Amino acid sequence: MNIHGRPMRTIWPAADGSGEVEIIDQTRLPYEIAVVRLRTLDDAVRAIVDMQVRGAPLIGVAAAYGLCLALREDASDAGLEIARSRLIAARPTAVNLAWAVQEMLAVVLSHPLGERLEAAWVRAAEMADEDVATCQAIGRHGAALIADRAERRRGARVNILTHCNAGWLATVDWGTALAPIYTAHRAGIDLHVWVDETRPRNQGASLTAFELGQEGVPHTIIADNVGGHLMQHGQVDLCIVGSDRTTRTGDVCNKIGTYLKALAAKDNGVPFYAALPASTLDWTLTDGVAQIPIEQRDAREVTHMTGRGVSGELMTVEIGAPGSPAANYAFDVTPARLITGIVTERGMARASEAGLLGLYPERAPLD
Ligand code: MRU
Repeated sequence: MNIHGRPMRTIWPAADGSGEVEIIDQTRLPYEIAVVRLRTLDDAVRAIVDMQVRGAPLIGVAAAYGLCLALREDASDAGLEIARSRLIAARPTAVNLAWAVQEMLAVVLSHPLGERLEAAWVRAAEMADEDVATCQAIGRHGAALIADRAERRRGARVNILTHCNAGWLATVDWGTALAPIYTAHRAGIDLHVWVDETRPRNQGASLTAFELGQEGVPHTIIADNVGGHLMQHGQVDLCIVGSDRTTRTGDVCNKIGTYLKALAAKDNGVPFYAALPASTLDWTLTDGVAQIPIEQRDAREVTHMTGRGVSGELMTVEIGAPGSPAANYAFDVTPARLITGIVTERGMARASEAGLLGLYPERAPLD
């Protein structure tokens, strides 16, 4: 997608042949477009932990490139084991991270020591390209849902609510929840997006709004607690969110606050969709609430906020009562019963084991 009209991805190998990786530092968006270099495994782990890169598919690809950086330092089996455990531990909820690392290891370990680095770069680049193609396919399938709504509304503007950032900044390009929106918008469908601010880190207000603005998609930032009111007043035609991990039974884990939006949607008869690639499906789990590990982050993300001061400088201010404890749960689980459908690169499925197996029959248990 574009930043100031220039097409960009969120992560790429440095063009100077240094064997390093470059990323857009998302902690500085939307006010500054800063490109940061990752040179070592430490750099990659820190970028994921500090959320310079974030979003389930993107942290998967960042971990893949992180493994390339680790291999430059130590290509031995022991070195790879250290890299594996450090990358997987960087963020516990999004399953894409573990998926990507396992994918990389399967390739790397099948090569002799001297060929591992080259094989890793090739696979990481493939994974980045696959992520783009996957998101484009999600975009096509999801856009059909939006087109259907537009038809039912006889061409009147379709209002879509989204939570957090599941756009191109959360992937390599295009996004998951936002890919259908971009595809539909480019096809000329009249739409408008309600953007949940998404406390505590404000991925909606700072990243989703930035992306939509760059693409010329009409949108409005709302406080996190507004969605229910809008739904009661017929101002939301559908909700689309992303996911960090989805069970084989269709329970969707996503940014904290998603569950409350799904409850409000159910109460108001508003269709609620999750858009996600196969790498977000965790086929080992059957009960999202009980089984998905929920990341808890630094309480300071709740008690403090970073933004732009009146003279243009980035600043952090305290917003909580000094000394009060705060809890920072980063994700929640929306049970399958609240989800109208799951959009993947293979099409639309009901949020159920049977529905998902319909799209991924190769995951059916063997008799
Ligand atoms: O904590 P974040 O910003 O990494 O959380 C991101 C989300 O919750 C996204 O909605 C999810 O990763 C889907 S991204 C395509």
